[in-house]
Amino acid sequence: MAVQERTQVGIIGAGPAGLLLARLLKLHDIDSVIVEARTRDYVEARVRAGVLEQGTVGLLEEAGVAERLHRDGLVHDGVEIAGNGRRLRIDFRELTGKTVTVYGQTEVTRDLIAARLAGDGPIVWEAADVKIHDIESDRPRLGYRVAGVERELVCDFIAGCDGFHGVSRPSLPTSLGQTFERTYLFGWLGILADVPPCSDELIYASHPRGFALASMRSPTRSRYYIQCALDEKIEDWPDERLWDELKLRLGSDTAPDVTTGPAIEKSIAPLRSFVSTPMQHGRLFLAGDAAHIVPPTGAKGLNLAASDVHYLCRALAAHYATGNDDLLRAYSVTALARVWKAERFSWWMTMLLHRLHPEASFEAQMQRAELDYLASSRAAQTVLAENYVGLPF
Ligand code: FAD
Ligand code: DHB
Repeated sequence: MAVQERTQVGIIGAGPAGLLLARLLKLHDIDSVIVEARTRDYVEARVRAGVLEQGTVGLLEEAGVAERLHRDGLVHDGVEIAGNGRRLRIDFRELTGKTVTVYGQTEVTRDLIAARLAGDGPIVWEAADVKIHDIESDRPRLGYRVAGVERELVCDFIAGCDGFHGVSRPSLPTSLGQTFERTYLFGWLGILADVPPCSDELIYASHPRGFALASMRSPTRSRYYIQCALDEKIEDWPDERLWDELKLRLGSDTAPDVTTGPAIEKSIAPLRSFVSTPMQHGRLFLAGDAAHIVPPTGAKGLNLAASDVHYLCRALAAHYATGNDDLLRAYSVTALARVWKAERFSWWMTMLLHRLHPEASFEAQMQRAELDYLASSRAAQTVLAENYVGLPF
């Protein structure tokens, strides 16, 4: 017989979506239990996103976890787009009045875990075999095993915040939903190194040898990415080869400013666009990567997790405060309206900047024309800026 516990919202996954949801719910006096498959060390060390939209920063402020973010985060007024032999600066502040903040997802996760464990409620680490039951009833249950003991969590609602490979999405009835997917024939090879960044702002570079991105985590820590083939292995890319390739792709203007050093992390990630609709069935609600994936080019994934969680928390708060479920019923439609626009922007940035076709092809000419247009049109730059800093939520 499983050990039974009771909570209002059972949350699967201690990534940014699950942790932020738990924190926002607590501010509305709504209890939750987070059930996470991995260890705390693993979750805190996972190197991923780096760019926070202004709205995400606002949400983290509202959640009371922005102190370190404001101290250590780097506010960026713009980005550079390099291609067609020139560097173009997109001035977010001038074009939209907004900025983005460079602050690692690892740090956001650490801040949220610290706040949670300071008294908000439990995180069950290393929960094995998480299973979801009775989502069509008003007492859905989460079954899982910790240290060999079977446990059951009886909930009012379940939030599936368990990322792309989690159990939540497969628990929705397939006959009622639809998925949309686009894969890309390349990945991103990322390197993290304790060297000063080559530029004060991010540089997105389109080069005949493939895309490159110069990013950072702090004035002494750099994060770079290059487009690579899907079948390439980390072992194919010793540090020296990676630095040489980065310098080539970033161009002769930037190369002298690139400081090289040993990699402290190196990984290859495939690119994917994916949306699963609807994001809810019965009392199971999906948020973040559990419901949708964007290619990283637009820096949108973590930010979409934040906006989903904002909509979901608002809807759950209305349920508990007034018994009105209109926002819960509208959750999927509301969240997806923003998700699809971020999908479009991420797809567009990906298609604009990666090498996809032979140099002499029609498609490569289209990329060049688009970059040229971007350089010549304030309207086009405003479109990029408005999407990059984040659409309102
Ligand atoms: P996740 O972070 O995947 O968290 C899900 C959690 O659920 C994990 O802790 C996992 O261990 C747990 N879990 C999974 N299965 C189970 C289970 N069965 N039971 C219990 N727990 C489970 N986004 C941006 O906004 N800006 C960027 O600059 C950016 N850059 C990126 C760069 C790279 C290289 C990559 C890979 C991603 C990037 N992203 C970026 C995307 C961003 O990292 C994700 O969108 C974000 O992590 C989504 O958060 P999440 O909480 O929904 O999912
Ligand atoms: C980073 C990741 C991205 O996907 C992006 O578009 C910009 C920056 C980063 O990890 O710093």
